[in-house]
Amino acid sequence: MTAALIGLLGNAYLWVKAGHLIFVIFWMAGLFMMPRFFVYHQEAAPGSAEEKLWVDREQRLLRIILKPSMAIVWLFGLALALDTGAFAQGWFLLKFAIVLALSAYHGWMVGYARRLAAGERRLSGRTLRMLNEVPGVAAVLIVILAIVKPF
Ligand code: HEM
Repeated sequence: MTAALIGLLGNAYLWVKAGHLIFVIFWMAGLFMMPRFFVYHQEAAPGSAEEKLWVDREQRLLRIILKPSMAIVWLFGLALALDTGAFAQGWFLLKFAIVLALSAYHGWMVGYARRLAAGERRLSGRTLRMLNEVPGVAAVLIVILAIVKPF
């Protein structure tokens, strides 16, 4: 089935790839910002006006940047993968696994924002700062796999 889709994008391929990378940048920017928002949020007194402001900022970051960007990265990425037959290539399978992990991290952030808004503060600022390294490490590995294609 997928073999029939190879080359389907035709001349649009490079435009789809450009779109893919533009929204990768937006998605990554949001992934880097959110845990910092959580740290500042947790430094605000429970029930304070400042805390409400952080809840609002987190919801807006999710709604305007994170969720649409992730959806478009996935849509364009899958279109590229079907166009090039990438599912049969080793580098892509590892990239795909890392992107799945990054999407799970995104999902964790949605859940943590919800719990924070309900007044639960499960993790320390230190742990949140460490989690902030996850998208950076993932980006390094994904870009090397996508550009160098070592296998
Ligand atoms: C969400 C799922 C994703 C899918 C299905 C996907 C799929 C693809 C595919 C098939 C290509 C074309 C590669 C080629 O054949 O040359 C591509 C290009 C690329 N992707 Fe993704 N991608 C995804 C997410 C990401 C993420 C999160 C990043 C970075 C953090 C990323 C970075 C890149 C880069 C740098 C290229 C350009 C490689 C080139 O020079 O052609 N992708 N992607």
